[in-house]
Amino acid sequence: MSKPVVFSGIQPSGNLHVGNYLGAVKHWIELQDSDKYDCYFCIVDYHSLTGNRGADERREQTLTTAAELLALGIDPNKSTLFIQSHVPECTELAWIFNTVTPVVELERMTQFKDKSKQQTKNINAGLFTYPVLQAADILLYHGELVPVGADQVQHIELTRNITRWFNKRYTEYFLEPKPLLTEAPKVMSLLEPDKKMSKSLGEGHVIELADEPKVIENKLKKAVTATTGGGKAPGVDNLLLLLEHFADGDVCQQFVKAEKAGKISYSELKGVVAEAVASSFADFRERRAHLLSDPAVLKAQLSDGAKKARVVAEKTMKEARELAGIK
Ligand code: TYM
Repeated sequence: MSKPVVFSGIQPSGNLHVGNYLGAVKHWIELQDSDKYDCYFCIVDYHSLTGNRGADERREQTLTTAAELLALGIDPNKSTLFIQSHVPECTELAWIFNTVTPVVELERMTQFKDKSKQQTKNINAGLFTYPVLQAADILLYHGELVPVGADQVQHIELTRNITRWFNKRYTEYFLEPKPLLTEAPKVMSLLEPDKKMSKSLGEGHVIELADEPKVIENKLKKAVTATTGGGKAPGVDNLLLLLEHFADGDVCQQFVKAEKAGKISYSELKGVVAEAVASSFADFRERRAHLLSDPAVLKAQLSDGAKKARVVAEKTMKEARELAGIK
């Protein structure tokens, strides 16, 4: 019997941060290692065209992202790891999906609204139809479960709608995928802990997995722990969340207790979080450097992944074309 398909994607935006890891990639590795699923993980370089990056930077960051995923434990013998543009069928399926997706539904997407504010000089049509391409990514492989952070749930809901719109217009064909969230679906920024951790906010807001211990320590020193108007301090909760995931259980409990008793030392907390995060990724940093030292091997692995993905993509596309009455 075939296993349920897990599909997820990540933008090649350079080094991954702890939000990407706790919200998504850690979960990908657990799903992969459970042996219960047929896993596809995709580095979405077509999606990254909607941003402001240049071509050379995109190429380089795509490889870096691949190296980081492998260094974290994505295993090409267990999962299909590939670059989105190596399987261009997704753009064709996205076009078909564009024609069943009402514009008003895309106008509701919060990510589109946020990005339009961030890149005011580049509000391109790709940014607007971005979630349609995301739906095509998932449905090209008949993805059933989509492990993502909380910020992507609206896009997965849209994918479910697109499935219905396509099936209604043509024939019942695609299955509605479901989002899968972790216990840390939303890691917050270090400097503005009311916003999700994101590289677009700036360097100091994120802890990158590849950051050297000293860099992590300095970033944490500047992390905001102040309360906003007398309530709970979101920055402190965020640091405790990091501690919960990267340090031993009792360490976190001690700080939780100290906080409740009003006896917490924020500088001590920051030091312990820095140490816990840095040591959790010490092996990762070595594996990453090793993988990046031989791009040819990396590229060969990605090309093997694309070959596997393409077999499925071509079959889906052939069927979808027939259903839509083209070719
Ligand atoms: P991207 O590249 O922005 O993020 C990759 C994954 O990391 C999660 N994430 C977070 N989780 C918790 N806290 C945070 N601060 C945080 N920041 C990011 C994201 O939710 C995501 O799971 N559109 C997608 C890529 C994509 C995709 C797909 C995902 C393209 N096609 C198909 C799933 C299925 C994106 O830009 O993710």
